Order: sequence, then C-alpha cells, then structure tokens
Amino acid sequence: MQIDIHNLSFAYGHRSVLNNLSLSLAPGDYLVVKGKNGSGKSTLVKCILGINPVKTGMIFFDHEDINNFSKWPLFGYVSQKFEEFNYEYPVTVNELLSVYSLKNTNQSYRLKLLDQLGILDIINENINNLSGGQLQRVFIARAMLNNPEVLILDEPTASIDKLNTEYFYRTVNQLNGQGITVILITHTDSLAHMNYSHVLSLNLDMTYQFQVRDKCDLEEVEKI
Ligand SMILES: Nc1ncnc2c1ncn2[C@@H]1O[C@H](COP(=O)(O)OP(=O)(O)O)[C@@H](O)[C@H]1O
Ligand SMILES: [Mg+2]
Repeated sequence: MQIDIHNLSFAYGHRSVLNNLSLSLAPGDYLVVKGKNGSGKSTLVKCILGINPVKTGMIFFDHEDINNFSKWPLFGYVSQKFEEFNYEYPVTVNELLSVYSLKNTNQSYRLKLLDQLGILDIINENINNLSGGQLQRVFIARAMLNNPEVLILDEPTASIDKLNTEYFYRTVNQLNGQGITVILITHTDSLAHMNYSHVLSLNLDMTYQFQVRDKCDLEEVEKI
C-alpha cells in the first residue's frame, strides 16, 4: 500500500503533538519511528489508523483520502498497550485467534504463522498463563491473521528480553521481505537488526527528520 501523509498536524485539545509532518511510503517499505517518550510516536500511528481523527493535513492510502477509506483490515496493528487486554474468558491461543479471523483463515496458515513467530507450542495454552513476550507474539499473530498489507507495531519489544528481541526483529524482517509494509515504533532499541528503509525521528519540539536508506540484503542482516 502506498501511504502519503501531507502536512499533518495533530493536537489533543490545546496540546499540540504533531506539526506539519509529511512523508511517503511505498508498498514494502519499512519505517522505524524513533523519539523520546511523549514525542508523538503513538499519536502518529493512531492518526494513520483513523483512531485520532485528522483535521489538519491529509493522509492517503493508495491515493484514497483516509476519510473515504474503508479497507481497514489491510492494516494489522499491535498497540503499545496490548498488555491491558482484558481477559473475559479463559480461552486458548487458538480460540483467541479463531475469533479474530475475518475470513475462514485456514488452520494450516494459522499454524504456519504461529510457527514463524515461535509460539506454535503454546497453541492450546490458556492465554492467562502466557508471559508478556508470548502474549505479545500472540497479538502479532492476530495482527497478521487477515493478511494485512501494512503491519504497525508500537514498541513491540517492551516486554521481551534481548535475545528474543533479536529473534523477533528477524521475524519482522522476514514478514517485510514478503512484501508487507512495516511501521515500527521504538524508543530504546538499536536499529542494528532491523532491515529498515526509512527512519522518522520525532523531537519533543515537534520538529522531525525523515531519512531514507537502502535496505540490505536480508541474508546480510541475518549475519549481523
Ligand atoms: N489521549 C490523549 N489525550 C491527551 N493527551 C495525550 C493523549 N495521548 C497522548 N497524549 C499526549 O501527547 C503527547 C504525545 O504522546 P504519545 O503520542 O503517546 O507519545 P510517544 O508515543 O512518543 O511516547 C504526550 O504529551 C502525551 O501526554
Ligand atoms: Mg507511545
């Protein structure tokens, strides 16, 4: 999906958070959004997802204005606050994913996804018994279930250890290598293991830098 943001500004009431931000991403790009706490990273992705209504500036998906856009299942999103997920029933991982499958996603695709994310062994586990890192990967699997074109991950490694963080970024590189556009927010992680194509750095004074770089060959990144 082509994503074009033109002169986006956003405020919560009188609190301005984004000022005149513009960027474009082509299908298959991998954008890392960096910046200190409070710099507006989550706010920006909530604007892209239509959670924060855009009043100043414009956002287009494949040249369609966000206000007319309806193909939201093309976005897979794992919010920063996935841990606040409210468990109403003691369901298993597999049951949770079934509920979120829009089409009849076949079971073999689901198994492949869980395997790729390294959580196949917990498919029949009660979700209340999972560690933060496992739960986070279940949510990524959920975001991937309906074959999104864009995967948005807001501080996805906050509750995983260093080794699993590297492993996780490898998985994101692979998903991106399959053509999925990735928008990944981080404020602490090194970019060493990410095969990103663009970096957006947000500053607390609402200025920003948007940089492009050539992606590496995936095998080269794996060796790092
Ligand atoms: N729903 C909200 N209502 C009012 N202010 C908010 C809301 N969400 C975020 N903010 C404020 O907007 C600023 C940017 O927040 P956020 O986008 O969450 O930053 P980041 O994700 O970079 O840490 C912060 O000052 C935060 O307090
Ligand atoms: Mg945030």
